[in-house]
Amino acid sequence: FYALPQSPQLFKQLLMASGFDRYMQIVKCFRDEDLRADRQPEFTQIDLEMSFVDVDDVITINEGFLKRAFKEALGVDIETPFLRMPYKEAMERFGSDKPDIRFGMELVNVSDLVSGCGFKVFADAVANGGSVRAINAKGCGKFSRKEIDSLVEFVKTYRAKGMAWIIVEENEVRSSITKFFSEDEMKALLARTAAEPGDLICFVADKNEVVFDSLGALRVEIAKKLGILNNKEFKFLWVTEFPLLEYDEEEQRWVAKHHPFTSPMDEDLEYLESDPGRVRAKAYDVVLNGTELGGGSIRIHMQDLQSRMFKLLGFTEEEAWAKFGYLLEAFRYGVPPHGGMAYGLDRMIMLMAGKSSIRDVIAFPKVQNASDLMTNAPDVVDQKQLDELHLKVTE
Ligand code: AMO
Ligand code: AMP
Repeated sequence: FYALPQSPQLFKQLLMASGFDRYMQIVKCFRDEDLRADRQPEFTQIDLEMSFVDVDDVITINEGFLKRAFKEALGVDIETPFLRMPYKEAMERFGSDKPDIRFGMELVNVSDLVSGCGFKVFADAVANGGSVRAINAKGCGKFSRKEIDSLVEFVKTYRAKGMAWIIVEENEVRSSITKFFSEDEMKALLARTAAEPGDLICFVADKNEVVFDSLGALRVEIAKKLGILNNKEFKFLWVTEFPLLEYDEEEQRWVAKHHPFTSPMDEDLEYLESDPGRVRAKAYDVVLNGTELGGGSIRIHMQDLQSRMFKLLGFTEEEAWAKFGYLLEAFRYGVPPHGGMAYGLDRMIMLMAGKSSIRDVIAFPKVQNASDLMTNAPDVVDQKQLDELHLKVTE
């Protein structure tokens, strides 16, 4: 089998190792992942790599590129430098690592206010290490019961178990949770969420991952309902300081969040073995209007660090050499510090054209389940073709 994990990632790094100081390619990529409105199995990247750079260099070069691309293609002036926001802040404020910052409606943590309250769902979430957070949907107090119920169903698709709400009126509140709260507790919630008459406050209590996911999606859903998203307004930002690793519950091991060649931040190196979850990476994403337009990192360029990383990811020394020997070998000769990133070209075109699906800007897209309805692909093949490939189908 041809297995090219992260192609052309390793090749462009080897190019830097061999003495080229810059590379750029428009490249076809194939990925086997769940499709969404901004994902296709076959897509196109603008891929680049540079040597002797740090995060600031990559960011500055790419801001220049985006400024020029938007000017020449759309006649739009975009302001640089872009806002930079650490991952942790993006999650806390927007519940997302690709926040849409065209509007506010930021998440508010109310855990401390409800940890001792009479509503078991809230108190338990906090006691179990999760949180209770809210968004203030300004002016949405006029939503009908049916509309609110549809928001409750919406957050459930993000694994939330429910959505408590408060409608603030001139002299009273209407709420799904009134009976659980004293007057003082209710006042504190309203103050924390900066609630005013006419507002709708929505709460989710759960482990943080679910709270962020569901409220992060809810604020975008409400903004769509309100029609406040202007697709001619381009709000860029860099999300930085991503976690280096995430724990894969299914496989019971750490996996790289970006890819295994991403450099940890120097100040977190000492925790690599003792507390892997807290190590941040020299990784960055450029985000436009809630879509991840591109992402990259500064790479590991020392063999010992790369070996530590492979070990952490569960490779034995032999496995690491069998899979990535050509890279580890190159490290023996001394490799310049290097880094880069890749853009989803189709995604960029999608946003520039004001479309909400990547299928609108790809010539021959696949449908949701990655099939082609006209040619009926994927389909079964002849025995002869299987024989040629020495493949046996078992079922
Ligand atoms: P990453 O996996 O983040 O990084 O991909 C870079 C960008 O490619 C786009 N993209 C996609 N577009 C459409 N359909 C898909 N299935 C799809 N998957 C990714 C996104 C994303 O931001 N080698 C690294 C880059 C690097 O470190 O230099 C990489 O591929 O816009
Ligand atoms: P119940 O006591 O089940 O009727 O729930 C009261 C309110 O709390 C309803 O509006 C539910 O949608 C909401 N609710 C239930 N579970 C959660 C949760 N995990 N987070 C936020 N609200 C919830």
